Amino acid sequence: MSWAATPPQAVTARVPAKVNLELMVGPRRSDGFHHLATVFQAVGLHDDVTVEPAQEWGVTINGPYADLVPADGTNLAMRAARLLAREAGIDVPVHITIDKDIPVAAGMAGGSADAAATLLACDALWGVWSSKAELEEMAADLGSDVPFALLGGTAMGSGRGDQLAPVLGRGRYTWVFALSDVGLKTPDVYAECDRLRSHLRVGEPAPSSAMMTALRSGDAASLGRALSNDLQAAALSLQPTLAEVLATGMDNGALGGIVSGSGPTVAFLVSDTERSLDLAVALTASGAAPSVKRAIGPVRGAHIITAASGPRGSLGSTGHSGPVGHRSN
Ligand code: C5P
Repeated sequence: MSWAATPPQAVTARVPAKVNLELMVGPRRSDGFHHLATVFQAVGLHDDVTVEPAQEWGVTINGPYADLVPADGTNLAMRAARLLAREAGIDVPVHITIDKDIPVAAGMAGGSADAAATLLACDALWGVWSSKAELEEMAADLGSDVPFALLGGTAMGSGRGDQLAPVLGRGRYTWVFALSDVGLKTPDVYAECDRLRSHLRVGEPAPSSAMMTALRSGDAASLGRALSNDLQAAALSLQPTLAEVLATGMDNGALGGIVSGSGPTVAFLVSDTERSLDLAVALTASGAAPSVKRAIGPVRGAHIITAASGPRGSLGSTGHSGPVGHRSN
């Protein structure tokens, strides 16, 4: 794809949140990260990220979580834009606007999602046309979950979670997410996991056959039973009230419940939309969860939804498929 006449003045990319259906945590590596064997699923809670040329680099966050996200150079979306600019030899600042619906510090990879969407959007805005491999490499530099936010669907993650292989699974799953008022920091949860297991000999993590069988069958009840997360005990240790959230969900018809990633969001799998409404009401009414979101998974990864070309208006919806990049390295 190339821009026929006028390059776009603004590009918007949409990106999903994730839940880990299985998260096996191995030993800590020499670089401080942990060996992982995980299964990601992208779920239909989205952020929309718009980039447009500006006099100086900047970021604006819209939505209920705006106050919780840094709007400076430490923002992962800003770091993504600057990384691509550096790699491609671009010297045009952008302003990034994030319409945020993915909860922050919640174990749903919201910051990673914004970084992935920013990479795609800037790549299109600047006409860099990085290859898929180049985008994946930059994504992995930015964070362990960023490559999956680009890919979406359901995928196995190994290494530190950045080495991906799509899973050919069946089924469309209905999720209910019990959010928490207080976030958990991912490094703190990994450190607590290490502390809780300090007396154990931790082996290399491997995906379970129960998870793969469940995904192949497309049976939500089997998937519910197969959900597992080695970080759950650590998240519960740091935030003990999550045990009550899990119990409330399981008492009210969930097929399975799990802390999402490093938490504190708790993800419940249910059989259909009606059950998801019932569970959302039960979780809210019991006071166990201050707020609840519902979503379907799997959904596609980051993709461009609009590229507006100034006076001529929208170029419409595009997919990202360009010629091999012409980056400077
Ligand atoms: O890669 P990312 O920046 O998202 O990781 C955040 C933190 O989570 C790391 O600094 C590390 O403390 C922890 N982490 C880990 N092992 C992984 C992924 C993340 O210890 N595989």
